Amino acid sequence: MKLFLDTADVAEIREYAKSGLVDGVTTNPSLAAKTGRDYVEVLKEICAVVPGAVSAEVLATDFDGMMKQAKVFTKIARNIAIKVPLTWDGLKACKALSDDGTMVNVTLCFSAVQAMMAAKAGAHFISPFIGRLDDIGEDGMTLIRDIRTIYDNYGFKTEILAASIRSVSHVLYAALAGADVGTIPGDIFKKLLSHPLTDKGLETFLADAKKAGVTIKTE
Ligand code: G3P
Repeated sequence: MKLFLDTADVAEIREYAKSGLVDGVTTNPSLAAKTGRDYVEVLKEICAVVPGAVSAEVLATDFDGMMKQAKVFTKIARNIAIKVPLTWDGLKACKALSDDGTMVNVTLCFSAVQAMMAAKAGAHFISPFIGRLDDIGEDGMTLIRDIRTIYDNYGFKTEILAASIRSVSHVLYAALAGADVGTIPGDIFKKLLSHPLTDKGLETFLADAKKAGVTIKTE
């Protein structure tokens, strides 16, 4: 599973990218608004830090406007993915951009049939929003499984990018369901490798070594 950071916070991205575990970044207008900075400038800095796909979301809702804004974004860096909403104009723009070799992330996906349409439009990524479905009592994970089934049935190459992730469980079950990517808020990203028994075990190892005078001479 590829792990993306779901944030536009450049400082946070810089810190996490040092681990070598960050495969890409997704942003959206709400995340961009939180920075209080120029969106294009933020994207330039993110693309310089993370070599993988960096999603930049258009603000236009019409085809022509989307294409104009996509042109601004694609000039930023080769690893920019244009994020468009799953609407008629969004899929028209997705088709035009993907036919031209541009990476497109189709976002705000809430049904498997929508995801099928995005794949037909040549989407590189599809972003089903797990958390927002869970928020209204639906099962976001069923959506991931259904998209996986449809994509495998017809050999669609679009990558399932599980989004709106709110917990470690979301990452676990999205991976089990066959999502290609999980885009994860920073606070959850760090929790992925945490387990209390790991911490306890390490503490015991170090205490036993200290008690017995076990050392490793490095010079
Ligand atoms: O990438 C989409 C994601 O940022 C949306 O998450 O928590 O606003 O549903 P959320």
